Amino acid sequence: MTIAEEVANQHPPDMAPDFTVPQHWENYTPVEHGTWDILYERQIKLLQGYAEQSFIDGLKRLDLGRGGIPEFDRLSDELEKLTGWRIVAVPCLVPDDIFFEHLANRRFPAGNFIRKRDQLDYIQEPDVFHDIFGHVPLLANPVFANYMEAYGKGGLRSLNYDCLKNLAALYWYTVEFGLIHTDKGMRIYGAGIVSSAAETRFSLEDNSPNRLKFDLERVMRTEYRIDDFQQSYFVIDSYESLFRATVDTDFGPLYENLPGMARFPVEHIENQAEVIHTGTQSYAAKGGRFAAE
Ligand SMILES: [Fe+2]
Repeated sequence: MTIAEEVANQHPPDMAPDFTVPQHWENYTPVEHGTWDILYERQIKLLQGYAEQSFIDGLKRLDLGRGGIPEFDRLSDELEKLTGWRIVAVPCLVPDDIFFEHLANRRFPAGNFIRKRDQLDYIQEPDVFHDIFGHVPLLANPVFANYMEAYGKGGLRSLNYDCLKNLAALYWYTVEFGLIHTDKGMRIYGAGIVSSAAETRFSLEDNSPNRLKFDLERVMRTEYRIDDFQQSYFVIDSYESLFRATVDTDFGPLYENLPGMARFPVEHIENQAEVIHTGTQSYAAKGGRFAAE
């Protein structure tokens, strides 16, 4: 059983209908704070030259390296001054409608538990390190902050249609695993990458995955991996262009049509014009994360 499932099964008595709980910062142990520090130190050293600059700026501005697991209330007060976003603690993954509602109202739900020491390199469910270190720095970027709110609102509208998988794919290939062009070259911005030492290198440097130009509809029709490194990454030109793609698109007809449209396999390339790098797919072909097991 995963940590999130354990917590969810316990039905925390102080959980509100919107799935929020008090963070209970006072309950973290020195070992748990130490786990944050180990992960923080490791990632901050690695990210120079890999992460897009406003992500690094956000980390510093919000002082996420001051030591130990951040206190959400303090962090929210600082973030709110910058972009109006706040962090709310949740004990597990929350249902889609609740998640969209939080984002649409500029609240980011963050897991309040931290991984165990034998999970430093990989954890399937999002913990406080992934959610805060990975997601919060870019919420200090006003344009990306607007995109996140637009995504939440788009998600709420989509609930009347049968396209949750399409919405999930958009989130996955941007917020979690997005790459971006910058004047210094390609960089990472997705939270799933920036909070993973191994995927930080893999996503930008390995020959195995495809790197494709971002196209909203194409992304929403693409399958994705939840258990291993991605086999394709999508590269945006700027946060502004990502935001514009979500607000300039007429989602009504798109939501109507998406459920009936074919979905693209994770490694698929159908149009050479979209390709930045054609992946060898050698990592996946060898069995990926499970190859040595
Ligand atoms: Fe995440």
